[in-house]
Amino acid sequence: MRTTITRTLTLGACIIGISLLHYLTPIHLHYLHDIFQRLYYLPIILAAFWFGLRGGLCCSCIVSIVYAPHILYQWGGPLTMEMEKYMEILIYNTVGGVTGLLSQREQERSVELQKTASGLKESYQKLQHQSEQIIVIEEQLRRAEKLSTLGEMAAVLAHEIRNPLGSIRGTAEILKDDYQPGDSKYEFIEIQIKETERLNRVVEDFLHMARPQKTDRQPCLVHNELDTIVTLVQKEAKDRQVKLVLQPQLFEVTINADGEKLRQAFLNIVINALQATPHGGSVTISTAVSENDFFEIRFNDTGSGIEAEHLSRIFEPFFTTKPKGTGLGLAISKKIIESHNGKLLIESDLRQGTTVTVRLPIGDVTHGGRT
Ligand SMILES: Nc1ncnc2c1ncn2[C@@H]1O[C@H](COP(=O)(O)OP(=O)(O)OP(=O)(O)O)[C@@H](O)[C@H]1O
Ligand SMILES: [Mg+2]
Repeated sequence: MRTTITRTLTLGACIIGISLLHYLTPIHLHYLHDIFQRLYYLPIILAAFWFGLRGGLCCSCIVSIVYAPHILYQWGGPLTMEMEKYMEILIYNTVGGVTGLLSQREQERSVELQKTASGLKESYQKLQHQSEQIIVIEEQLRRAEKLSTLGEMAAVLAHEIRNPLGSIRGTAEILKDDYQPGDSKYEFIEIQIKETERLNRVVEDFLHMARPQKTDRQPCLVHNELDTIVTLVQKEAKDRQVKLVLQPQLFEVTINADGEKLRQAFLNIVINALQATPHGGSVTISTAVSENDFFEIRFNDTGSGIEAEHLSRIFEPFFTTKPKGTGLGLAISKKIIESHNGKLLIESDLRQGTTVTVRLPIGDVTHGGRT
């Protein structure tokens, strides 16, 4: 807007200036008038460049109107005598029109070119984004492939470990009978049995995860499952001096699910939360029906949080930061939730805490008012 005003004022000043030169210069200095006559082309061409066809014609018309009285009254000759000057007026208008038309076309072309350039830029950015996505997906695929090969190998290994493990446990139990409680050898054999059991649990857990999961779905009350979990871990929470809270829910939610499996997933999540929370912290379990029709169970702790570089790996089997952890808890839980068509999400702030959200589709849920 400001440029348009400045340009219009410049053109006006040019026309007024050149006209004044015409009107104030005596006519016997005709060579000067010849120069002034040509000076009019300057504002006409500028107007055509700046404002296109309309600008060029408008300017040449104004110049014609301003210049005509000078020919008529100051020169005052008959039409045949001043023909050259009248012809000049005609040329002013032709130049204004033609230059305006050409510059307008040029401007339109440059606008089109700009549009094409920005379209190309957009396509290039899209292409770049897509190729970045392809790289990420490729990386994920490679990782998944690695994991599945590793998983298959480990499943075979786990299967092979279970049998000798059973023999070790059996023979240890036979040996235990030869000693009395209190005897140091009795204690050692007890340790041996306990450790064998632990190892067996790890192998069981792993095989459980490697095998395709078959869910035995029945209507189950989610709140009852959560109540059971709270009862199960209450003692552990107390020992750790962590406040464990199950927030009352507004709806009685019955879900078509394998209750035992869901309990297993919830237990893994709550135990992780307790393990991450220092004395005096809290673990809160809350439920809600979300806007986009999902039933959500949130496990929030005020614990250590998860480091950013660990966050992308916590669902990988065997990823653990704990000296005695197996790194299978979350991998199993995720599998269980996904086999219920749900989602397991984790948000975490380092040193602030972690929220694990279990989302189950509302299609599998019926809910009514709590009685
Ligand atoms: N609530 C949490 N707060 C902080 N870190 C967590 C939390 N939950 C999981 N993690 C991190 O994710 C890792 C993987 O958890 P996962 O339950 O799979 O294995 P684990 O707890 O280490 O071992 P396991 O569950 O077999 O005893 C943990 O080692 C821990 O670093
Ligand atoms: Mg765990």
